[in-house]
Formats: sequence, structure tokens, C-alpha cells
Amino acid sequence: MKGRTVVLIGGGSGIGFEVARRVVEAGGHVVLGGRTPEKLAAAAESLGDAEWRIVDTGDQESLAAFFAPLSRVDHLFTTAATYRTGPMRELSDEDAESPFTSKFWGQYHAVKHAAPKLDPGGSVVLMAGAASVRPPGPAPAYVACNAAIEGLGRGLAVELAPVRVNVVSPGTIDGNLWSQRPEAVREAAFGQYRRDTLLHRVGTEADVAQAVFFLFTNEFMTGSTVYPDGGYGLR
Ligand SMILES: NC(=O)c1ccc[n+]([C@@H]2O[C@H](COP(=O)([O-])OP(=O)(O)OC[C@H]3O[C@@H](n4cnc5c(N)ncnc54)[C@H](OP(=O)(O)O)[C@@H]3O)[C@@H](O)[C@H]2O)c1
Repeated sequence: MKGRTVVLIGGGSGIGFEVARRVVEAGGHVVLGGRTPEKLAAAAESLGDAEWRIVDTGDQESLAAFFAPLSRVDHLFTTAATYRTGPMRELSDEDAESPFTSKFWGQYHAVKHAAPKLDPGGSVVLMAGAASVRPPGPAPAYVACNAAIEGLGRGLAVELAPVRVNVVSPGTIDGNLWSQRPEAVREAAFGQYRRDTLLHRVGTEADVAQAVFFLFTNEFMTGSTVYPDGGYGLR
């Protein structure tokens, strides 16, 4: 990672921050993006060698301004997403569309704006979710969005070669995202996940960060989806 610039949009917290820690430990330089300056400043300070800038992946002008100062991007990973999930028969159309609006198109546009700067020896990792292969409950648009992101990874791998494009599709992760949900909801989801996986535990942000780091650094990986999910898809 020495001499490499790694862009982590959403890297001010959670899985993206855990990836940032690994990259900095390995001698790389990270650029964090997100919508909350205090969060990004605190994350960058705790990392040491880190830049940060405000960006909203739902706004293409903001993405253009975010990438403009960078002369080269070696690796890109975007955990930024804000959406609602639930049954088709209960969600408003706007909420039902929100995973595609934010998670799918947000990542698509992030890659589009990064593409002119991506080093030919570099890579993109897209964030999906193992609900793509096994719906945890009624949330059809969210399930389809994650499957679409896995397809997007294969499509972009063909278009952007020799830049490598891969997808990480985690199971349920005990970390920043779930810590903000009500305890009863979290415990019910974690309990179900422990019963439903081969390894009988929820994942950690470090489990996912390790997979992302592998996809950044293994030079024969492209067009693949990796599932850090404890075997969730097999039960
Ligand atoms: N945690 C899990 O169990 C799990 C499992 C499978 C997949 N995932 C996927 O992982 C991603 C979330 O990552 P995480 O678990 O690490 O959660 P997180 O800590 O909430 O990270 C998301 C980060 O993205 C930023 N963000 C959100 N919307 C943004 C936008 N429009 N533009 C720029 N930045 C934005 C947030 O900061 P601001 O709000 O300050 O901008 C936050 O720092 C989602 O795509 C989720 O579907 C998570």
C-alpha cells in the first residue's frame, strides 16, 4: 500500500473506517468522504495519514468536486448509503426505491467520477450485501438492489479492465450501522442470524475489512463477489 491513494466514501465510520485503518497500517494514504465534517475530521485525526472531504454520493456535482483535486486513485470503496428496507406492500414508493437510489446509483456515480483517475493497476470494490442470495425477510427491493450491485461489479470489471472491479457482499455485521438501531430490533436480528449461519455468529467490521483488503491487493481477482457471511447463504 506504500505510495497508494485509497478513497473510502463512507470511511468516516463502520466498515469503511476499519478498511482505512488497515490501509494506513500498511503504509497507504486514505481520502475519506462523507456528509458530516465532525465525523470525518475525528476519523482522519485518529488515523494519522488521512485527508477528508465532504461528498454526497446522491449529488453528481458533489462527486465531481470530491474527485477533482485527486491526480490518481489506486483503490475505491464506497460504503455510503442511506435507505429504507421493508415489504413491498408496506413501503412508500420513495422508500422502496431508496436502496437503488442511494446504494446502487450512489456507487455507480462514484465509480463514474473516479474512473478517469483510476490507476490501471488499481481496483474498485463495490459494497453489496448477502441478502442478495438469501432474503432475511420481506424486503424485495433491497434484496434486488444487492443482487444488482453484484451484477454491476461484473459489468464494470469488463468495461474498466485492466482496472479490477470486485464486490464484497457481507452478512449481518455487529458494528456502527446496527448500533444505531433499537436494541430489541438488533437482538432479534442478531439472534436469527446466529441460528441461520453455519458459524453461528454475526460478523465484525474487521471480518469485512479483511475481505476488502484482499480484493484491493490480490492482482488476479476481478469480476468476483466475496461473501464474508459465516455461511449464511448455505442454510
Ligand atoms: N453493517 C451491516 O450489517 C451490513 C451488512 C451488509 C451490507 N452493509 C452495507 O454497508 C454499507 C454501510 O456501511 P457500514 O455498515 O459501515 O455503516 P455506516 O457506519 O453507517 O457507514 C456508512 C457511511 O456512509 C456515509 N454516508 C451515508 N450516506 C452517504 C451519502 N449519500 N454520501 C456520502 N456519504 C454517505 C455515512 O456518514 P454520513 O451520514 O455522515 O454521510 C457513514 O459514515 C451499506 O451499503 C450497507 O447496505 C452493511
